[in-house]
Amino acid sequence: MIIQSLRSSIANTYSRFPVTLVRGKGCKVWDDKGKEYLDFAAGIAVCSLGHCHPAVTEAITRQAGILVHVSNLYWTIPQLEVAHLLTENSFADRVFFCNSGAESMEGALKLARRHGHQNRGPDCYEVICLEGSFHGRTLATIAATGQPVFQQGFEPMPSGFVHVPPNSITALKLASGPRTAAVLIEPIQGEGGVRPVSNEFLLAAREICDRLGALL
Ligand SMILES: Cc1ncc(COP(=O)(O)O)c(C=O)c1O
Repeated sequence: MIIQSLRSSIANTYSRFPVTLVRGKGCKVWDDKGKEYLDFAAGIAVCSLGHCHPAVTEAITRQAGILVHVSNLYWTIPQLEVAHLLTENSFADRVFFCNSGAESMEGALKLARRHGHQNRGPDCYEVICLEGSFHGRTLATIAATGQPVFQQGFEPMPSGFVHVPPNSITALKLASGPRTAAVLIEPIQGEGGVRPVSNEFLLAAREICDRLGALL
């Protein structure tokens, strides 16, 4: 009852199940009444290691006793080590650490505009996005998102985003040009329904971006 009354202190931005989770272990979680649930997502999105794995708990506990938070004005050894691990094991040369998917998309959009401005001039700022896509809940990322339901009530949208239907190479060709700074694609749309984009469309996007000097 006390827990229920505290719910009104949180902004009503997500529709949540009427369940308060208090504990987790592996792929199981328990609510405040002791009811056990199987968590098929074992977390959510990138948090897919399950709940309270002993190695994760040990690492967090150990670091909490050494150094918790410093600003980006300084280097820290764990950050350098994770960045190196990521660049050694992925396509990327450099890492940008941030706090959410929306923030990573904001970073990507700013990077695309900066790249367009520096290499192809100030009119090169447009990002071509797909209808049905989802890219986050900040102003720029709802403008990139190809679902009006996320934009309604927050207009006017930031400009510079155009949307084409997924898998329409013709629409992508028509929308692209000197203004195109980047093409933004979820290879498998998630929030828009589990909808994969075709290989042909991805290859066409690669070819168009390479030809224009745009980012993909
Ligand atoms: C493809 C995609 N991009 C961005 C986001 C936004 O991530 P976050 O909720 O961490 O801001 C999501 C979240 O579902 C997503 O599915």
